[in-house]
Amino acid sequence: MIQTLATTPFEGQRPGTSGLRKKVKVFQQPRYLENFVQSIFDCLEGAHGQTLVVGGDGRFFNREAIQIVVKIALANGFGRILIGRGGILSTPAASNLIRKYGAFGGVILSASHNPGGPDGDFGIKYNASNGGPAPEKLTEAVFARTKAIKEYRILDAPDIDLDRLGALGLGPGLIEVIDPVDDYALLMQSLFDFDKIRGLLQSGFRLRFDAMSAVTGPYAKRIFVDLLGASADSVLNGTPLPDFGGHHPDPNLVNAKHLLDLAMSKDGPDLCAASDGDGDRNLIIGAGRYVTPSDSLAILAGNAHLAPGYARGVAGVARSMPTSAAADKVAERLGVNLYETPTGWKFFGNLLDAGLATICGEESAGTGSDHVREKDGLWAILLWLNILAVRGQSVAAIVADHWAEYGRNYYCRRDYEEVEAEGANALVQALRDALPELPGKSFGGLKIAKADDFAYHDPVDGSDTTQQGIRLLFSEGGRIVYRLSGTGTSGATLRVYIERYEPDPAKQNLDTETALADLIALSQEIAGIAHYTGRLAPSVVT
Ligand code: G1P
Ligand code: ZN
Repeated sequence: MIQTLATTPFEGQRPGTSGLRKKVKVFQQPRYLENFVQSIFDCLEGAHGQTLVVGGDGRFFNREAIQIVVKIALANGFGRILIGRGGILSTPAASNLIRKYGAFGGVILSASHNPGGPDGDFGIKYNASNGGPAPEKLTEAVFARTKAIKEYRILDAPDIDLDRLGALGLGPGLIEVIDPVDDYALLMQSLFDFDKIRGLLQSGFRLRFDAMSAVTGPYAKRIFVDLLGASADSVLNGTPLPDFGGHHPDPNLVNAKHLLDLAMSKDGPDLCAASDGDGDRNLIIGAGRYVTPSDSLAILAGNAHLAPGYARGVAGVARSMPTSAAADKVAERLGVNLYETPTGWKFFGNLLDAGLATICGEESAGTGSDHVREKDGLWAILLWLNILAVRGQSVAAIVADHWAEYGRNYYCRRDYEEVEAEGANALVQALRDALPELPGKSFGGLKIAKADDFAYHDPVDGSDTTQQGIRLLFSEGGRIVYRLSGTGTSGATLRVYIERYEPDPAKQNLDTETALADLIALSQEIAGIAHYTGRLAPSVVT
């Protein structure tokens, strides 16, 4: 029976670049999730009788949320709901299912790389029929709807058994609980040379993949161990847990320091890798060599043709603005366009849909291609393995070759987390106000050649997006970028991205802090970071 229940609108629940993310406690408030889900469905046209994909990263509240989403979806006319068994679907796997089964869209329950558990974060996002994040127009409409909603519709039915595979009629529709890994594993097999990778793994090459007790465990076990023959101990923390086992499932050098230590140790594994809470990010560390996500994007783009799925070459390369310019050099050499987009995966969607770009990535450890419309952690690791298998070189040797050929982009990101929003906003505003006077000014011997606030004109839909980050370009070739995070759940996070290009192989082996020392100091001085945030140092450097 479909019930129509009264609710009260809520204010200010604006979904960010990656959907709505809040503390679990916020989502547990009565009718909070119901309001948001009904608001999404109120803004869709033509969903009647259609298929919806539903799954999440297994974090605390995942199962409860799925029951609510499914019952509201059926009450709103969806005809068929595909659910990953146990409520599990990685973000890229959900994107694949939407595309493969011609679904109208998908609801993904995840707060990505944010911590989980009862005191952690929860999140929900809607993906459209191309498998990618909802376009801005839709998220804005949903936001407006959350402020006006008066009632929601929900099926009055017993809970679905999420652990039993199979189809079941429920109310007016059909529920199908499917294996979360099958279709994704098939997709990976269609892109990569599994025989070659199996050969590599059997030749003594050692892989360590840390699923961080999040969603990728079942995917990694099936693909690396069952299909590619890696040893069972290649997959660490391979069971999804509601609190991620207390880990912070953000595979950066702080949270995955154990992998860095392992890779740097004598006789360490040949490749250490990790993914985040919902499986869309990746961390790549070869024996003795960490690969920055920006370098990884460039190397993957330059070598993608070595994998069967990309043998025809790439149509174009896309990167977010704060990502280093390493990929630009590769695109130039390949003779294809390089697209520089605002931060957030959704901007890549149009380029991928239009066939303008094949490979894209962000400095925040997201890399992907036109195989889905999300970034994809395991995909990136498999592409690396495919390249390593074909080239027969170590990760470190491939990186060294890359720098020798294209030059090295020294790069770091410095995050000032959970600072007061007021100070952070004032800092950005002050920089914005100063933009006209900055060009020509010198700081500590470095001269600003150009200063702007990044704006993007979408070549596909013609839309314009402004105020995407303050860029300072120095005459000597360095760059500093300032922007505020759009995904944090408490206070504000100021991100400062610093980069310098070094073409001379003799000067490519400095450590990053040394190579960027003057720009790092300047980044604090020019923006008055201590003054506006009270912070003398960043909380995370990646
Ligand atoms: C962060 C990353 C960005 C990524 C997003 C979603 O956003 O910086 O590259 O697309 O998470 O994973 P931010 O917090 O910087 O807005
Ligand atoms: Zn993620």
